[in-house]
Amino acid sequence: MKSNNFDTIAHLYDETRQYPEFVYENIFKLIEALGQLDSKEAKICEVGVGTGRMAIPFIKKGYAYTGIDISNNMLSKFKDKIANIDHINQVEVFQADATHLPFENSRFDMVWGTKVLRHISNWKGVLQEAKRVLKENGVFLHGEEYWVVAPPTVKVRRQWEKFIFEQNERPNRPFGVTDDHEIAKYLEEIGGKSRILTLSTWPVHETFLQKIEHFATRAGSSTFGISDEALENSVEKLKQWAYHEYGNLNYPYSGIRGFRVVMGTFDS
Ligand SMILES: C[S@@+](CC[C@H](N)C(=O)[O-])C[C@H]1O[C@@H](n2cnc3c(N)ncnc32)[C@H](O)[C@@H]1O
Repeated sequence: MKSNNFDTIAHLYDETRQYPEFVYENIFKLIEALGQLDSKEAKICEVGVGTGRMAIPFIKKGYAYTGIDISNNMLSKFKDKIANIDHINQVEVFQADATHLPFENSRFDMVWGTKVLRHISNWKGVLQEAKRVLKENGVFLHGEEYWVVAPPTVKVRRQWEKFIFEQNERPNRPFGVTDDHEIAKYLEEIGGKSRILTLSTWPVHETFLQKIEHFATRAGSSTFGISDEALENSVEKLKQWAYHEYGNLNYPYSGIRGFRVVMGTFDS
């Protein structure tokens, strides 16, 4: 079983991944509409909780929250944030694998994760575990980002991969699941009802230089395992390529980003 442990990029994770406030608000609106978490006694488990980027708004709202992750460094950032919140309900943090949750059956009202199933080869095992630890009528959510309208800067990834392959190294590509329909299909196979919902869209502006920096600083998991030398060479080549193709590396191109969830409910 393969997993991407984010230990090596925990220090720059939060500064390189930010959502507008309304992304969180719209998740809460969905949860309120579902009605499952009306009581503050309701228990939520987040798998692949990381630095708590998605968890903190829930904890601030007073939910009983359990976060698990395999990365100690990501969890340590999460724990620092929890320590700075004044009034919290019950919060638990465990270093654990999402395919082997250290919890008894039927413990949680909601199990969820964001941008995590792409990082776990046995993602089906995660969904089975989620079902096991969910109470009857519990809800599972998996959130992902995607391009609604992609700016030309997305082409950097493909070029970067080409320059890495040319140096006889391999980019770390997702080995879990990246297609929400596959997640939805498997939720149905294990007895759930599934829906895919786009919750938020927002404009983004990105320059070629910013996109190239994302690789240069190893901010993304695709650089895991790439040697420093190959990375430096690839970044140099990327700059030359982008300058040749687009001229100004500081021009802010516009795109539209989206956040959507796959929802699974397991009725009795
Ligand atoms: C892209 S990060 C997402 C973190 C957080 N959900 C967020 O959106 O900010 C993926 C996280 O999944 C964790 N992870 C990867 N494989 C895992 C596994 N098998 N069990 C638990 N966590 C895992 C990584 O360590 C990392 O913190």
